[in-house]
Amino acid sequence: MSRSQADFTRLERIPVRILEDHEAIASEVAGRIAALIRARAEQGRAAVLGLATGSTPVGIYRELIRMHREEGLDFSNVVTFNLDEYVPMEPDSVHSYHRFMRENLFDHVNVPGESIHVPRGDLPREDIDDHCRAYEEAIRLAGGIDFQLLGIGRSGHVGFNEPGSGRGSRTRLIYLDTVTRADAASDFFGEENVPPEAVTMGVATILAAREIVLIATGEHKAQVVRRAVEGEVHADVAATYLQEHPHASVVLDPAAAAELTRVRTPWTLGEVVWTPELEAEAVVWLSRRTEKPILHLSTKDYRDNHLSSLVARHGSAGPLNGDVFNRLIAKIRGRSRLPTKKRILVFSPHPDDDVISMGGVLRKLGENDNHITVAYQTSGNIAVFDHEVRRFLDFAKRSREVLELGDERRLGSTLQRVEASLDAKRPGDVDSEAVQDLKRIIRETEAVSALESTGLSEADARFLDLPFYQTGKVRKDPIGPRDVSITRALIEEVRPSIVFAAGDLSDPHGTHRMCLDAVTRALDLYEGPPPQLWLYRGAWQEWSLTEATVLVPMSAEELRRKIMAIFKHQSQKDVAPFPGPDPREFWQRVEDRNRGTAELLRTLGLPAYYAMEAYVVLEGGERLRVSAVPTAALGEGA
Ligand code: F6R
Repeated sequence: MSRSQADFTRLERIPVRILEDHEAIASEVAGRIAALIRARAEQGRAAVLGLATGSTPVGIYRELIRMHREEGLDFSNVVTFNLDEYVPMEPDSVHSYHRFMRENLFDHVNVPGESIHVPRGDLPREDIDDHCRAYEEAIRLAGGIDFQLLGIGRSGHVGFNEPGSGRGSRTRLIYLDTVTRADAASDFFGEENVPPEAVTMGVATILAAREIVLIATGEHKAQVVRRAVEGEVHADVAATYLQEHPHASVVLDPAAAAELTRVRTPWTLGEVVWTPELEAEAVVWLSRRTEKPILHLSTKDYRDNHLSSLVARHGSAGPLNGDVFNRLIAKIRGRSRLPTKKRILVFSPHPDDDVISMGGVLRKLGENDNHITVAYQTSGNIAVFDHEVRRFLDFAKRSREVLELGDERRLGSTLQRVEASLDAKRPGDVDSEAVQDLKRIIRETEAVSALESTGLSEADARFLDLPFYQTGKVRKDPIGPRDVSITRALIEEVRPSIVFAAGDLSDPHGTHRMCLDAVTRALDLYEGPPPQLWLYRGAWQEWSLTEATVLVPMSAEELRRKIMAIFKHQSQKDVAPFPGPDPREFWQRVEDRNRGTAELLRTLGLPAYYAMEAYVVLEGGERLRVSAVPTAALGEGA
């Protein structure tokens, strides 16, 4: 490793690799596991794997299944031990990690049934301690774990070793942390349904593995990853114990790596290769750190804050300040600088993302006489509470005569059937087809109403109902050829010169990421002139001032009207069924983010707008770089 690379990773207490995206991580880690399985098979020995559940490892399991099917990867010598299971939990429940592992891996490869071990969540309390001891013993008898795969929770847990877990802890029953329960709420249709406890392998059990790989993806993991990688070893963050393991490493996507010092402020670690983007990052950082407007920054400010080389490149502070200031100003585009009379196609993953993320620009583009089509990619029906459906059933009953909905007995028995299916449902059960349809329709009516409030009409809305989403479950299928062909057909019909798509990829279920994938793949196949791609954010994240390439200002009145449009999504109002880690309602996040961007611009010494939306605009064939990771940040750590 070169000396300069060592400098950039010097705060990292464990080797870290940052790979391009989920797919790269899946193929790298699955490749490593496959190599181990094959090497052990050649030696006539078992490969003992420690496995994790959750959203992060799913791609790895998918890749292992592909290798089994297409490359004959043989799992007959594999022995597995899963990290944990909720308590209480029946193994067949949709929430059970037993079932998760069957559906995501074991049912599709040839691991012998007797070689699979997952802690049990269905035992009487008095038997749990014995079960935990037996689990430890089974690991020992298998010869110990060769390769332990880990995810990380926002509480810093590995397995379910919540804050306070000791270095010497073994497999045991543990109470789940509040943060963990909040994060699991999405899967359980509400925090109140998340089990209070879990059985988990202990810290010492995990550290006894011969090799450990922790993987993390997504912006929501960035803070805890930094703590785990750069922070002191402490029981508050169980993942820090990995620093003490001789063969532990961390594999991240750029979003999860975003808070590492080598990514956030690499100039504080050593000589960086300055690019215009990095220069802007550094100047904005310095302005915030010194609490001075950009144009007030002095050469001394740069020299005192690790930025001598940057200021030296420009001779003095003045030209550099001016350059970054002008570049920021140039990003601001009010209505007069926005497109007019163009064909615009907006893709909205869920029926409310359009108004949440781009409600301001949508109105302005309508006022500019553009021809706008808004395509709702999924129905979003999974995120509608049952009580909403009941309310509309009641509405149908009460309005039967006025709307001439037909014979009372027939309508009554249909409604009763739907109500009975709701009554029989347990949290997490898949809805009956009729209920799924009703939930879809509820969201369609909300989307139309919101669109109308931005000045567009029902005729401008298209509901794609992409098949990947239609599992009726929280977990979705991967994007398939039909999703791409539906998307492509619409692009071919509209022939847009501008496409909008969601670029906030940290939603709890990964739907936004998959929706962007469908758009990207369809655009790759589209033979017409490549449209400009505007990526918006808002519900889950926001573009930073330096990432954004276009900033669209809004007055107080425009922000108010945008929020009124978000209010039309009543099924998502007050309590969103899937809020993710942020407890605020979507309109509150939007208000905070849009006003925050404007406020930051003001503190940097640029004009004081009331609020602004941020976009990354890509020309023609350009595609999204999820996060601008400086070259120095990539590659092997310590
Ligand atoms: C799961 C487990 C947990 C998860 C962690 C991250 O078996 O032990 O530690 O790895 O909560 O979960 P995701 O990947 O869903 O973010």
